[in-house]
Amino acid sequence: KKIGVVVSGRGSNLQSIIDHIAEGKLNVEIAVVVSDHKEAFALERAAKAGIPTAVVERKGCKDKAEFEDKIDAALREAGAEAVVLAGFMRILTGHFISRWEHKIINIHPALLPSFKGLDAQGQAVDYGVKVAGCTVHFVDEGTDTGPIILQKVVPVLDDDTEETLAARILKEEHKALPEAIQLWADGKLTIQGRKVYVAR
Ligand code: GRF
Repeated sequence: KKIGVVVSGRGSNLQSIIDHIAEGKLNVEIAVVVSDHKEAFALERAAKAGIPTAVVERKGCKDKAEFEDKIDAALREAGAEAVVLAGFMRILTGHFISRWEHKIINIHPALLPSFKGLDAQGQAVDYGVKVAGCTVHFVDEGTDTGPIILQKVVPVLDDDTEETLAARILKEEHKALPEAIQLWADGKLTIQGRKVYVAR
């Protein structure tokens, strides 16, 4: 199965996907990495792994629809069968999402439905929760609201800052995203309404 990975920055989740593939633990091909920032470090990671890249910048487009059309075109031209959002920092609209129904997978650094949106780890620290984690989910037209594939939990410690908690969650993200992609690639995920059933 071929996936397209859409990124905005550092790309450590992309790196985890690349590493899992290289180690034979994830059986998919990354057809293309699309970034909305030309200076994203994720692009260097992709190039180093020999993966084709595309840059689609919002400022080069007349409106959001054109921006999304260009991302869509880059993914389709590469033959992607699913889209993985790995640290992509923009909200996709129904214009894009409706064309990839149940085929967009996102990672969010919180136990949804808590702490949607930006700075999820800081929100968790400020709220005083005792556990936090990450969620891999299919993308629907809301923000961080789609059907949940899997979640991983970490403790929140008394002396945690946003940074220390984010680092602990990130380690789990690096396991969760490849695991979810493999479940999808193996055809093990069935979506019924809000629920994702995982074949065992
Ligand atoms: C991750 O914490 C991801 O969950 C969030 O943005 C961060 C991206 O990190 N949405 P990276 O670019 O994969 O290193």
